[in-house]
Amino acid sequence: MRIEIKRENGFVSYEVEAHNATLLEVLNKIKQEKDNTLTYSSSCRSSVCGSCSMRVNEVEVLACAYKVQDGDKIEALKNMRVIRDLVVDMDKSYTFNAKAKAWLSELNTGASIIHEKQHINEVQSDCILCGSCYSACPVYAVNEEFLGPFALTRVWKYVSDERENGVQEKIDTIQTNGVWDCTLCDGCTVVCPQGISSKADIEKLRVKSTMAGYSDPSFAQSFGGGFGGDFGFDGSPQF
Ligand code: SF4
Ligand code: SF4
Ligand code: FES
Repeated sequence: MRIEIKRENGFVSYEVEAHNATLLEVLNKIKQEKDNTLTYSSSCRSSVCGSCSMRVNEVEVLACAYKVQDGDKIEALKNMRVIRDLVVDMDKSYTFNAKAKAWLSELNTGASIIHEKQHINEVQSDCILCGSCYSACPVYAVNEEFLGPFALTRVWKYVSDERENGVQEKIDTIQTNGVWDCTLCDGCTVVCPQGISSKADIEKLRVKSTMAGYSDPSFAQSFGGGFGGDFGFDGSPQF
């Protein structure tokens, strides 16, 4: 089969013998037998470490899980600086965990987690930091300050945890470049190898934000900056 890999100067075509092979196996074969300058990252080979994420035909995948097909076009993740070939600099996206205060800030020592609530935020803990959701996010593509999918999912993990006392601080932190900037397009959910829906978590954070007295700033602007008077007699908004 023939695949193409985007390298420094554009796509390079490789002919390889491969049957039912993963993309990572094919990349290893190319590196060992054809071109040892090809650069990519991997570690666990079992969808656990998140280091082999890349794009195939413009869709984010884990190379160790994806079965390669004839004609595939392989590229590095989007929205991140390419260090070389298929390796990107993920440092910036990790800083959003810090900006969003995505950790347990204040332990509620009196909280006791009952059995039914034990699994409430279990899936959010499964993130393997592969970066695929950032690559697929159209908002992050145009606003590098957007806190983005996995940081917001991580915030939800702590906001939904009864052992967290510092919920208000977290809700305050995600109002700018956060929950209201997401377009709810679901691109992050579609590509997540761990079945995490950051979009769903962002929706839940919006509900929490509303309960805390916040509202969607674009909605408020469309209604003339507030609810104080821009309505017709029948209650419809007047523009
Ligand atoms: S749902 Fe929101 S966070 Fe997810 S990809 Fe779309 S804009 Fe980005
Ligand atoms: S939320 Fe999913 S897609 Fe995003 S970094 Fe974590 S595992 Fe990867
Ligand atoms: S090598 Fe670890 S997830 Fe693919």
